[in-house]
Amino acid sequence: MSEGTTTTRGSFASNFGFMMAAVGSAVGLGNIWKFPYITGEYGGGAFVLVYLVCITMVGLPLMYAELIIGRRGGSDILGALRKLTQSKGALGTAFSYLTGLMAVLSAFLMLAFYSVVAGWAVYFFLLSVGLIPAVEFGNATVFDELAANARTSAICHTVFMLMTIGVVTLGVHRGIEFLCKTLMPLLFVILTAMLGYVAYTGGLDQSLSFLFRPDFSKLTSSAVLEALGHAFFTLSLGMGAMVTYGSYLKEEGRVIRDSVAIAALDTIVALLAGTVIFAVVFQGDLEPSAGPGLLFQTLPELFVNMPGGRFVACVFFGLVVFAAWSSAISLLEVVVAYFVDEWKWPRFVAAGGIGAGIWALGLACAMGVMMTQDTTLQDGLDDIVSRYMLPIGGLLIAIAAGWLVLPEDGLSGFRHMVKGGAVFGGIWQFLIRFVTPIMVTIVLLWQMGLFDAWLKGETPAPPAEKGELAAPKEPAG
Ligand code: PHE
Repeated sequence: MSEGTTTTRGSFASNFGFMMAAVGSAVGLGNIWKFPYITGEYGGGAFVLVYLVCITMVGLPLMYAELIIGRRGGSDILGALRKLTQSKGALGTAFSYLTGLMAVLSAFLMLAFYSVVAGWAVYFFLLSVGLIPAVEFGNATVFDELAANARTSAICHTVFMLMTIGVVTLGVHRGIEFLCKTLMPLLFVILTAMLGYVAYTGGLDQSLSFLFRPDFSKLTSSAVLEALGHAFFTLSLGMGAMVTYGSYLKEEGRVIRDSVAIAALDTIVALLAGTVIFAVVFQGDLEPSAGPGLLFQTLPELFVNMPGGRFVACVFFGLVVFAAWSSAISLLEVVVAYFVDEWKWPRFVAAGGIGAGIWALGLACAMGVMMTQDTTLQDGLDDIVSRYMLPIGGLLIAIAAGWLVLPEDGLSGFRHMVKGGAVFGGIWQFLIRFVTPIMVTIVLLWQMGLFDAWLKGETPAPPAEKGELAAPKEPAG
């Protein structure tokens, strides 16, 4: 097996290390914060079912496509695409620049607002540990005050960015792999322990039937589209994170198995987190449709009244911080890999310099700078990236993998399958060439409002859910 070009630019030492880093990227605020609240808003079981179909039909093929492009291209997203589309001449080069630069820009912009939300999780962690004695944990107004308090938000965002820059500076093996190998198993242990805890405190039955008993009368077409959009976000697709991690893989024999395992583990974490969170919500006799405030507002209020709740809350927010941290690292790594591979910057310069730029943009978000008269920079960036740039990136990567990359590269992962490689390879090729682009185009047209007339008559989506990570605009619960 070729070692590729990984020696000078760093690589994962083991497949397990790679897996934990990739799962770390996928498992983030999308699983613990966004998935439960959109599931709550869209009525539970039926939405979950559609989400699972989207993960399998669109997420999984694209996950493999990104990993194999990274592995075969052996470089940052732009370099990897440029190498693999060489046979298409100028078209391939132009396409690679378009896709690569957009992915790098998406990662840059996204980390700015992601870090602000992650900073709030840092704040709630410190609060639950008792390190911010002036504020009472569990008080319903804490979150609104935090979101409105520029200074505190800015400090928490700064702490989180420093944590992220520090790990990326240490490199792929010593930084990212080491941290994720430690954090991810711990995250699974904590989630399982929390499942045991809610089995004891109550609400588990209701939570399970809410999540797993589909009621199709609650399923709206906007729920279907939301599920597809979220499949991208939660699997870290459409911005080159998986391409970049794939490029640090030493061998490709396990790419198929790894793709399935990453998607499965990400889904398991989302379902586990949802089960735990809704059990707490039902145990507290609340409605599951609290919206974006579910994690930061509803849960702290409920935790304080539960046995050992304060301790559980601090473990829980620790988990949220871990999850967001390993995702943020993968976002910064996309940009850093680009500057290291394309511009030959030393890693610490790229991590520090780019990190500082992202920090400055995030600072503007945390300070409540406005983008337009009625949209904050935080919500505006979130909207642009989550609703447009990620799906467009996913569409371009799917087109590249399906039509521009030579089949000997695109299908190489399937050659390692003991049985059925040709059949599964054929299915993948069909999905990535036709199904993914068509479904993503539908989501994009929806985001642009082209289906509004058709969707009329359904309850319009509340404004706060427009962006993936929008701050709650109204009190929850
Ligand atoms: N997958 C992450 C989450 O669920 C978000 C993310 C998207 C991270 C894209 C990296 C790249 O929160």
